[in-house]
Amino acid sequence: MILEVADIRIAPGRQAEFEQAVHHGLQTVIAKSKGFQGYQVRRSIESPERYLLLLEWDTLEDHTVGFRGSAAFAQWRSIVVDFFVQPPFTEHFEAIPARPLADVEVALRTSAHDGTMDKPIQDFSDCHADIVSMFDDLTALARPQAPTPLRRDMANRVMDVLRDVVTAHHQEEEAELFSAVLADAVPGEEHAKVESLVNRLVAEHRRVEGMVAQLVPALSAMASGGDASLDAEAVAVLVTDYRAHARFEEETFLPLSQTILGRNSDHMAALGLALHIRHVSDDVRRRFGSI
Ligand SMILES: [Fe+2]
Ligand SMILES: [Fe+2]
Repeated sequence: MILEVADIRIAPGRQAEFEQAVHHGLQTVIAKSKGFQGYQVRRSIESPERYLLLLEWDTLEDHTVGFRGSAAFAQWRSIVVDFFVQPPFTEHFEAIPARPLADVEVALRTSAHDGTMDKPIQDFSDCHADIVSMFDDLTALARPQAPTPLRRDMANRVMDVLRDVVTAHHQEEEAELFSAVLADAVPGEEHAKVESLVNRLVAEHRRVEGMVAQLVPALSAMASGGDASLDAEAVAVLVTDYRAHARFEEETFLPLSQTILGRNSDHMAALGLALHIRHVSDDVRRRFGSI
């Protein structure tokens, strides 16, 4: 038996409508699919716009090939897609046999040493470094030159970072870091300060994502070997704005986050674990896309 977990974010205020639609879709469309065993829908207590859909299938292929390759998939999507504010994250889980406690402890200690769990705040800074290191290639691609295999590979790498890493980084910040710091900030002046910083950073994320979206068609053509050209001025604005955003986070928001979350080691550990789980499952998300 395979457990499919879909992590869904919907627009605020549409919970009742979504819950009715999702049950309708599950019961009238997905329930008829081969290999489908049952489902649960869970709403987050801390984030009322977040839901987990837990679906049981006989095999992975019953979901990824049978259901997704059928007309029922489009029918299901048409029922729920309008509620989504971002593509859902979907992963598949299989049961593992029980192990002796000693083995479990070793496994936990090992997984905790990829760095993310020990120093979750540092992880955000490291991600900025990865993104910024791609800007030289992006700037080079904006210079007019004939397409070459080298430029095509460069465009592919830049696309991967802009489309996947930047988006995932923003999602991690907003879903894990910002919400954790807001929850732990002292009510009053400190909370108001965090809220104002978060509003600014989230607005900057949307602006960056908008600029990235405008560059994607030309980059995509370059990545396919086409003779497209990037708007050099738009690239320069994106690079400047993103560097300023990352610097502001590193100089202002991340140190404040360290102070606030550092008051409670359990909360810092929870952030580390949440990031670790996201990173471990990145490959699965890339393979299977959204529900
Ligand atoms: Fe950010
Ligand atoms: Fe960031």
